[in-house]
Amino acid sequence: MTALVLFGGGGDLAMRMLLPSLYFLEHDGLLPDGLKIIGAARSEETPEEYIAKVRTAVESKADGHWSDDAWSRLEARLDYLAVDATSAESLKPLKDKVGDGACTSFLAVSPSLYAKIVTAMRAAGLAEPEDRVVLEKPVGRDLESFRAIDDAVADAFSEHQVFRIDHYLGKETVQNLIALRFGNVIFEPLWNNLSIDHVQITVGETVGVGDRWPYYDEYGALRDMLQNHMLQLLCLVAMEPPSDLDPDSVRNEKVKVIRSLRPITDEDAERTTVRGQYVSGTVDGKRVPGYDEERGSDSDTETFVAIRVDIDNWRWAGVPFFLRTGKRLPEKRTEIVIQFKPVPHSIFGQDARDEDAANRMIIELQPEEDISLTVMNKKPGLDQRMQLQPIKMSLSWGVGGKGDAPPRRRIAYERLLLDALNGDSTLFVRRDEAEKAWEWVDGVSQAWVDGNVKPLPYRAGTWGPDAADMLMARTGRDWNTSD
Ligand code: BG6
Repeated sequence: MTALVLFGGGGDLAMRMLLPSLYFLEHDGLLPDGLKIIGAARSEETPEEYIAKVRTAVESKADGHWSDDAWSRLEARLDYLAVDATSAESLKPLKDKVGDGACTSFLAVSPSLYAKIVTAMRAAGLAEPEDRVVLEKPVGRDLESFRAIDDAVADAFSEHQVFRIDHYLGKETVQNLIALRFGNVIFEPLWNNLSIDHVQITVGETVGVGDRWPYYDEYGALRDMLQNHMLQLLCLVAMEPPSDLDPDSVRNEKVKVIRSLRPITDEDAERTTVRGQYVSGTVDGKRVPGYDEERGSDSDTETFVAIRVDIDNWRWAGVPFFLRTGKRLPEKRTEIVIQFKPVPHSIFGQDARDEDAANRMIIELQPEEDISLTVMNKKPGLDQRMQLQPIKMSLSWGVGGKGDAPPRRRIAYERLLLDALNGDSTLFVRRDEAEKAWEWVDGVSQAWVDGNVKPLPYRAGTWGPDAADMLMARTGRDWNTSD
């Protein structure tokens, strides 16, 4: 790969994530020799001005890992060109800068521009057979708009050249989940409806929507988080073992899971889904406004969603997956909880039949990265009747203290940028996956429209509307509250 072009190179995603990721890759000597990195955006500025901004952005993220040497190597690769990316004419000088080698273009711009940009790229010679394009989510806001954009992309690039990013797949713990499931013999025999009671996936954020509301209002939590990040996590938990780590082997298995998701019907929506919207409250000790106040007027956009998902296949029949995500929740916490069933018969008295006493695996993505397993142990002592207590064992880098120190926590985009540059699409979303996910999510949003399901208010700083707890309680379960 000769060049990486960052369309939207001066924007928030590029400055906060992409360029710091490239710095860390440079720091670790992982960028391909000779790779040029070209920022391309509307703003009329010189390469020197752009590079100065990049340096500030990178320094603020380097966090104890600043190296003048790494920076000067990155700086030597950087360049900038002011372009109108939707015009082939304006992209010609960019093509000249790229030269004859292969180019990967990252579209870190509004998805409403994707179709126009790829069309212009094709005309300007930036969509040749060796070139690649990386698309940031969300591509479209429903199946129809996804197809319209993706058809334009498909006119310019073949599927193997298209890298649809879901940054959750770049998170270290998510990949560790794949390692844990398929690199060990002890979990897979239990990974089914005989041993697992249910699965919970929580993506909680303390941040509000703030000035992102013009984007967010069109999408809501269902399309912003559930259609992509949360369904991807669900797929990795639920998929069958792929035959190898080849991109298509993995993605074939993920698509099968999405195809097996039971559609949410109009009748189900009230019982199996919860929409919420935050009103003012206190988060991290600070008073924060409600969504409607941030937006300046009332809206029916959900900032919280909880949903019960059933997977209609042999492995998961009867095992509900409970998904919830929201803004302005009490903690930034992302976790997958695999709740195993209690032992079939307890010889230790009734307590050991409780769900609390059953094994539980917690795959924590944020704030810490860790995978832990709760197992029952004997409480030390001479009690006449043997007492049990749950012990949490860490199965990953987080705890342990033996061996090497845990590696630096990487930005998810580091892995994904590197994979895109190397042409490995295993951790990227294939077209049919995205289509099936949209189809299922469209069913949910249609059920909300048909059933006039409006978001319920929840106070900022709480775990969403009470109805989200009821969703679990109705089935005799509750959301994980343990750390
Ligand atoms: C983005 C969403 O894709 O993911 C944001 O658009 C959300 O609304 C973000 O805040 C969360 O990412 P992370 O990695 O901080 O959990």
